[in-house]
Parts: sequence; structure tokens; C-alpha cells
Amino acid sequence: MALRSARWYAGQDRNAYIHRAWMRRGTPADAFEGRPQIAIANTASDLTPCNAHLSEVAASVRHGVYEAGGIPLEMPVVSLGETQMRPTAMLWRNMAAMATEEMLRANPIDGVVLLGGCDKTIPSLLMAAASVDLPAVVVPGGPMLTGTFRGKPLGCGTDVWKLSEEVRAGDLTQDDFTRSESSMIRSRGHCNTMGTASTMALVAEALGTVVPGVAGTPAPDSRLLEAAHGTGRLAVEMVTAGRSPSTFLTTASFHNAIVALAAIGGSTNAVVHLLAVAGRLGVPLTLDDFDRIGSHVPVLVDLQPAGRFLMDDLHRAGGLLAVLREVRDLLDDDALTVTGRPLTSYLDDASVWDPEVIRNRSEPLVREGGIAVLRGNLAPSGAVIKPAAASPHLLKHRGPAIVFDSIEDFHARIDDPDLDVTADSVLVLRGCGPKGYPGMPEVSNMPLPKKLLAQGVRDMVRVCDGRMSGTAYGTVVLHVAPEAAAGGPLALVRTGDIVALDVAARRIDVEVPHTEWAARTPSRATLDGFAHPRRGWERLYVDHVQQADTGVDLDFLVGASGSEVRRESH
Ligand code: FES
Repeated sequence: MALRSARWYAGQDRNAYIHRAWMRRGTPADAFEGRPQIAIANTASDLTPCNAHLSEVAASVRHGVYEAGGIPLEMPVVSLGETQMRPTAMLWRNMAAMATEEMLRANPIDGVVLLGGCDKTIPSLLMAAASVDLPAVVVPGGPMLTGTFRGKPLGCGTDVWKLSEEVRAGDLTQDDFTRSESSMIRSRGHCNTMGTASTMALVAEALGTVVPGVAGTPAPDSRLLEAAHGTGRLAVEMVTAGRSPSTFLTTASFHNAIVALAAIGGSTNAVVHLLAVAGRLGVPLTLDDFDRIGSHVPVLVDLQPAGRFLMDDLHRAGGLLAVLREVRDLLDDDALTVTGRPLTSYLDDASVWDPEVIRNRSEPLVREGGIAVLRGNLAPSGAVIKPAAASPHLLKHRGPAIVFDSIEDFHARIDDPDLDVTADSVLVLRGCGPKGYPGMPEVSNMPLPKKLLAQGVRDMVRVCDGRMSGTAYGTVVLHVAPEAAAGGPLALVRTGDIVALDVAARRIDVEVPHTEWAARTPSRATLDGFAHPRRGWERLYVDHVQQADTGVDLDFLVGASGSEVRRESH
């Protein structure tokens, strides 16, 4: 087998000397003689607390790589901390993917182990691996352990929304709210609800990019280090076998990922991430595939935000493989994994150990979960809603719009006692799409007006061109495309217009006479609400980012460049 790295290291000329000599520094004497060079792309960072433990995971990967005859090379890559970054970590998902792709291509690397956890880190690593197309395998960093407050479990994210609403409604004191902080974040690891990080770890396994059975292992669990060790060994074998993403990530893999996404009641954010990864591979995945494949799949996992339990409960109950066994007939047997074996070949050995956490197919948490794709004159290119996280009585609803031109406008007015709002109103927020914010933040699950909370209202229809945290819940129509800042009709809605949502009919419309609608133009205030960056990454991003219905990738990053580098550096 000819290694890619041999193009740097083989031979006796000056350039090979330079490449070898600078890398020696204690490496074994035979390090450059046919031993696969395995990068460990590590998103550990103190500013990404969910991933801060990944250097320990990397050490276990390192052992596995050595053991299998490879040379491990730890490579810090761009890390994105969901809770810290402003205006939103999503603004840099594509930058992180681009940087990792370029670093893998530029260096003498034969294969890569991808270490991610927090929301955007696994998606960006997968996008990079797909575009450079070197043998690649993911080790998800794992969720935190369940925290408790006043004797009750606390779910990261989900309970933040609940507790903050309780403070706003006067049911919880500010002091107790503050006290709950350190109870919620109890250990290393990423959010322990079925938020985006948990979703993407499990979906990455369903896609075939994680060793089956590993995703969802809690971060402090010693079995994670064991799995990391084994994955290091596997990465060497993948190089020998030439098992790069394009050889096993197919339409069948994405089909299985969508079934899994629905069965676990996963985050809507997986839609844009899977579309982006498919776009890098040239797999013809569309927004409508999520509805077609996933919307009738039952939600079997009883995890917050849709249900009761948390990620270490899911792991204890059997994990993703046990969930997939329940929906085996819906899976595509042709989809392969990083090990070379089909995903479905792992299901015979899977068992459900706690049917409260992983429901039987005949007693699902939600009979039809998945993600519904809506269209209409408010979202000609599509919008999504997660019915399992919505209130059943609002899935068909008509009500007058209250329109906000920006999140700042929203915060300034939502608690105004004079705001003309009722439980029937539809809150419309624009300027939150990829271009408009920029970065498409998780603001679509707008907090409800204080005066309605005091009346006991806990959900309203909300419409937005942004995203929603995977840990959030509510009747929220999100990812509206095209977004307002890209000329989408959301820019034309006015307060008082009647908005009609009909999830069963897959419609989201504004009821304005056609001639009046056709004559409308965005107001000055609406246009002022959009981002107008002059330089730097934001400028590049706004000029090139695509819309939610195709994955929010940059237009020039769609597709793959492979790993070929034609020119030498000296
Ligand atoms: Fe990192 Fe939730 S904030 S996973």
C-alpha cells in the first residue's frame, strides 16, 4: 500500500530530508517507513468547556494508533464553544470545517481521528473529512452526567429555558435560579439532553462515521477511553483498507441518519448539518428527504426536551443501537460504517435494558416524530418544525402576527405591558438567518411575553428565519428560507397580518390579498435590522453563505477537493 505521507517522507532528496528531520524529535526510527500517519484532530479548548477533556481522549487514541503500527499526530483544530461565542458559534462552523480540511490536506497525513462534542464541532469535522476524503473516524466526546437540583434531575439547556421562564413568571427566586447553575453542569462532557451535541454524536454513528455502540458514552465513563483506544487502532486499519468517507457515506447512510434523527427525537439543527455534509460528498440529499424519510418515524427515546430522561439514562438503557433495533425495518442494509461492516449488522446484539427510556415501537413517546418540512408564501424554499416539541393544539393555528425586525427589537418590546399580544398571536422574528444576523443563531424559540406567562400561557406559535437550540421546545417554525435578508417574503410581513400554520398540510402562509402582497417592499427598519459587515470572515460569510434549505454552507465550499497537493513547499 502506497501511503500518501510517503510523498513527503520517502526518498533521499533534500525535501524528504527536511520533512523527516523536523518531525524526528523522539519519534521511532522507522516512523517514516510505511507507517500510517494518523492525525488526531482535537477540538479541546478551555473556551469550549464541553470539549475540554478531549486531550485525555486523544491520549487513548494515541495508544491505539501506536499499537496498530501507525504514528499518531495530535492536531489542535478550530474549536467552537456553543455557550460562549457571540454572535453565534454557527457563524464559524464553515470556517472551522475549511480550516480543518486545509490543515489535513496540507500536511503529511494518511488518516484522521476526529474528536468533537459541543454542537458545531462534530459537524465541522465531518464536513472537513468529507471534503478532504482521507480515512476518517469520529470519537464523540460524550455527554455530562446528570445533575440534580432540589432532588430532581436537571437537563442542560432544557431546564435553563424552563427555570428562566419560572423566574419570569415569578415562580422561582433569582437566588435559587443562580444556585442551580453548578448543579446543572456536574461533570465534563457536552449537554446531556437530546440537544444538538447529543443528536450529532448519535446521528454521526447512524451515518456510519463512529464505531457502532460508542456514541453517547458519557464523557467521564472509562469506556469512552477504551473506545478511543480501539478507534485509534481502527484508523490505522482504515488507511490500509483505503476506507475514506466517499467509499462508505452514501444515500443509504443519510437515509439511516434521518431515521435515527427521528427515532431519538433529535435536534432540528441536524437538518442543516446533514445537508452540509451531504453537499461536501455530492450525495443528493434534500430538505424534503427529512420529511419523506423521517416524519412518520416514531420517537422512541424519552429524553428531554421532548421527554423525561437524560443521556446517561439512554446509554444505560442500551444506547443508539438498541433504538435502531426497534426501527430496523426502516433502515437501509446497504449502509456501511467505518469498520467496513453494515450498520444493521450490529443490531442483532443490541438490547433495550430500560423500556421507560427506550420505548417499544408499539408504545412510542410520539407516534410520528421526525421533522416536518413546511412551505407556503412565507417560506417558498421551506421551513421546518419539530412536532414532537410543539403543543398539539397549536399545530393548526391562525393568528395575527406581531413582527420584530431584530432580536434587539424583540427584547425591547416583548415585555411591554402595552404590547397588543394574546395567546393567539403569532410572534414573527426576522433578520436571524445566515446572512441577516449573521450566522443563523438559536433565537427562534423566543421567550413568551411576561404578561401571558403570568396568565399561564406556556406556548405560542413563533416563526423565524433563525435556528432553535436542540434543548428548546415549543411550536416554533424555523429555518424559514429564503431568509428575510436574502429577499425572502418574511421581510414583507406586517404586524396584524394573519399567519396560518397547518402542520398536517405542511403549510405556513400569510393571508394577505395577492395584489397587496406583491406590492409590498421591506421597510427601512427591516433593512436596518440586517447585518452589513464590511470586512473579515463576516464579510466573506455574508457574501457566500447559502440558505437553510441547502445546509448553510459557503457556496465555494460545497463539494470536495480531495487530498491531492501538487506543489512542494521548498
Ligand atoms: Fe456544548 Fe451544549 S453547550 S453541547
